[in-house]
Amino acid sequence: MKMAASCLAVAVNKPHISMTPSQLLFIIVLLVGTTNLSTASSPLKHFSTKTPYAWITSSKTTELVDDEMYHLTDVEGLSCSAVHANAVIRHGSRFPGLDDVLEISNVHEKLVVAMEPDVNPELYNWVNNFPSNNNKALSSLGEEEQEALGSRLAKKLHTLFSDEDFSNFKFMVSSAERTKQSASAFFEGLSTVVQGEEDDADDFDVEVNDELLRFFDLCKKYVYSVGNNKTAMKEYTTFMNSHQVVKIKDKMSEKLGISKDILTTANVRLIYLICGYETASFKSSPWCSLLDEEDMVILEYLGDLKHYYKNGYGHDITWQQSCPLLNEMFYVMDETIVEIETTEDDEEMDGFIVGHFAFGHAETVGPLLSALGLFNDSEPLLAGNFEQQEKRLFRTSEILPFSSNVLFVLYECVPEEFGEDEEIDEADYYLRLFVNEVPVKIPGCEELSCPYKTVRGLYHSFVEECDFKKICNSSHPKDEL
Ligand SMILES: *[C@@H]1O[C@H](CO)[C@@H](O)[C@H](O)[C@H]1NC(C)=O
Ligand SMILES: *[C@@H]1O[C@H](CO)[C@@H](O)[C@H](O)[C@H]1NC(C)=O
Ligand SMILES: *[C@@H]1O[C@H](CO)[C@@H](O)[C@H](O)[C@H]1NC(C)=O
Repeated sequence: MKMAASCLAVAVNKPHISMTPSQLLFIIVLLVGTTNLSTASSPLKHFSTKTPYAWITSSKTTELVDDEMYHLTDVEGLSCSAVHANAVIRHGSRFPGLDDVLEISNVHEKLVVAMEPDVNPELYNWVNNFPSNNNKALSSLGEEEQEALGSRLAKKLHTLFSDEDFSNFKFMVSSAERTKQSASAFFEGLSTVVQGEEDDADDFDVEVNDELLRFFDLCKKYVYSVGNNKTAMKEYTTFMNSHQVVKIKDKMSEKLGISKDILTTANVRLIYLICGYETASFKSSPWCSLLDEEDMVILEYLGDLKHYYKNGYGHDITWQQSCPLLNEMFYVMDETIVEIETTEDDEEMDGFIVGHFAFGHAETVGPLLSALGLFNDSEPLLAGNFEQQEKRLFRTSEILPFSSNVLFVLYECVPEEFGEDEEIDEADYYLRLFVNEVPVKIPGCEELSCPYKTVRGLYHSFVEECDFKKICNSSHPKDEL
């Protein structure tokens, strides 16, 4: 009998991996031996919501221009500078959850029994190095990406943030530890730029707010009609068992020289996820050798289907339930404008909130993107239209990776020909929207820069009529028990 080579590394509390020297040597051998998946190669772009931010953003974040988000240049006759930034940010790259960590060991055991060791020695000798009690904690890559994001946003809005007191920033997190870890790392990056030195952690204050950042747990109608409803995910389960995914399974079995009935299509998806997680944490993974790029593209669509129905346009309640969050964003911007208008009359005032950063989940950012009407394909994503959806807008690897972010920047605009002794009653305010640091047109606006009042009007139903209790009211029989 062959021995199962898998075992869980001794799990540690911190998101660091403890390794014996032989495990370390094994990883080094692996790194040297595997060249088919360097972090620069393209297959890495297809990990759906498990894609680390850097894998999709490296090209647009290398050339950083100081203050590049600070001025508006496309508003004629007005001179506009940023007064406030308001962002919702998904937590950074994390480790796989316990279910997946345990399940991949089961799959490995199954394979070790069935395969010949020399068919794929790296996979045969694979050791599960994920901490088993990590509670979906941020990996060090996740901390790095949040710190880099904080630092980059602080540079892109340098003049707005520099020399600001930290009381003029607000940080909000959900009750999940990984959002707090993300906020701390982000703050470290931001404060280092703002102060020009390492921050004083004492200045860092966060508010925990699940009503705004984990509404998907609190909205009963969403929980019973989508979250706990298998039928709501039927396009996803149908595609999971489609000929496309079955073909990947059969190809994998052939590569391993095992019978076709050993792996399931669910195993195929797990292998794909572990390939992504391991590459993110340990730079490479022998599981990736079972997948070609064309397979990744199919499994990416499987992920997109899941999130389209769970966190996107698939069901109206999914985006409707995010109204308290969108409402809060506009409330904070409304307040900022009021405070700017009063501050300018009264030099004694302490100022206003220049940065509002809320850290949530894919289940927070996805519904928000849909509530805003972004990346809305004219045809729904279905199990049967993979080919037609090749150029879909709702591509989660690009819109919902780890650390994905939705950022509104509010600008105050005054006439360009504005003399020092002239009085203006009220400035004009403009808004710009950035998704993953790329400017995107606000649906309904003509230009990238859009008058604040116009945008507020476009989202009128969220700003003025957000009644969470009513939207989420459940007439489901179970609730009356
Ligand atoms: C479950 O989802 C299906 C498809 O969206 C829907 O028709 C059905 O009403 C849902 N069930 C419940 C209990 O909401
Ligand atoms: C998404 O697009 C569809 C089709 O164009 C449209 O009917 C729907 O109202 C849009 N959804 C949202 C939330 O904007
Ligand atoms: C919730 O729905 C029930 C019956 O479906 C209704 O009696 C109740 O008034 C509703 N509550 C709210 C806050 O809309």
